[in-house]
Amino acid sequence: MDSIRVVGGRALRGEVAVLGAKNAALKHMVATLLAPGDHELDNVPGILDVDIMGQVLDHVGASCRRDGTTLAVSVPDELNPEAPLELVRKMRASILILGALLARLGEARVALPGGDDFGSRPIDMHLEGLRGMGAEFELNHGVLEARAPDGLFGTEVFLEFPSVGATENLLLAAVLAQGTTVIGNAAREPELADLAVYLGEMGAKIEGAGTSTIHVHGVPHLTAARHRVVPDRLEAGTYALAGAISGGEVTIRNCVPDHLRMELRKMAAAGCEVSVDESSFTVRGPDRADPIDFATLPYPGFHTDMHPQMVAFLATAGGTSIITENVYASRFRYIGELNRMGADIHADGQHVVIRGVDHLSGCEVDGCDIRAGAALVLAGLRADGETLVTEAHHIDRGYDGFVPKLAALGAVIERL
Ligand code: UD1
Repeated sequence: MDSIRVVGGRALRGEVAVLGAKNAALKHMVATLLAPGDHELDNVPGILDVDIMGQVLDHVGASCRRDGTTLAVSVPDELNPEAPLELVRKMRASILILGALLARLGEARVALPGGDDFGSRPIDMHLEGLRGMGAEFELNHGVLEARAPDGLFGTEVFLEFPSVGATENLLLAAVLAQGTTVIGNAAREPELADLAVYLGEMGAKIEGAGTSTIHVHGVPHLTAARHRVVPDRLEAGTYALAGAISGGEVTIRNCVPDHLRMELRKMAAAGCEVSVDESSFTVRGPDRADPIDFATLPYPGFHTDMHPQMVAFLATAGGTSIITENVYASRFRYIGELNRMGADIHADGQHVVIRGVDHLSGCEVDGCDIRAGAALVLAGLRADGETLVTEAHHIDRGYDGFVPKLAALGAVIERL
């Protein structure tokens, strides 16, 4: 079992650079399938999820080659319309292969996705939108079989909720469909806007990506392109909170601070000193955080994937904070682990009540998903003594060099 051992009490100081966003790079990898030829993605993080997506692409017939942070993807004319069960199960993002394969081949067979355990995470919006574009689905033995017998055609889809994945699946399907697709109540996440930029570089005609209404004018074919992946705001935000929770001061480089506007606003409200430049920002943590309330929401609201790290920070605040989780039905498994460290946190329905305690004390905790694992390491930076975060492979799914980057900022941390 892989674990991360951290000894608390050291204030982190210095600079850390972030890489491209996991939640963009994975989608860009799927998007390569839309155009035969040699693609090149730059600023790609060396994380487990990218490796898994690479294996999915390999299975479909494309080949990936990594050289540092550059990922070359070679896409042949012929593709295999099947995504393998054992890989798709490991990562929810692989459901995006559905839109891309339907667009390219008119058929796809994709096992239903797994991923983090955040309560039930259906794909009804993906399927409803694709159905509107002419796709038909059948579920056989856990495998979703999709066909578009007459091809995909443009239509108007209005999403019930601005789902990131559903918007992306529809975008991938629409770029090669006949006619114009309008996606209403679309997700506005920067990673999705970056996907649209990349598709545009491949020759797609997209207007309004990054706003709630996206128009896609289908084109007959796309060509391979080169693209630099947008910086990872979640990696940036996590290191900012690592500095803050330790009472230190950390500068995050190679990022887009504007993509973290709400998160930085809440850090400031909790007593952090925040200063922002064009592609970097600095966060200086208080001795003890002030309590705050916030709700997670689709972008530009507070990102649900920053919620566990923020809760860890507020665990030792000088008062009670209340957080409302609006994106997932349940995302609270890490709370029991923080309480093992001495925190006083209760979840009730969508709400989390955090009564700030004087101190946390290190112990063995289970890092049950990417952000929970990161949040527990952050708590370990603040805690007395030694914290052992087990199941550290979850952190590897989303962070490239998490332990060495924290060590370079002065943390006493090692991988076991
Ligand atoms: C993406 C991110 C994830 C992030 C989430 C919200 C990737 C690989 N993952 O996930 O890290 O936490 O956005 O910012 O980019 N839903 C439905 N039906 C659907 C689709 C979604 O009910 O058809 C629900 C989900 O169960 C969830 C909510 O909508 O409760 C948000 O999901 P969505 O925005 O689709 O997130 P993902 O794209 O899965």
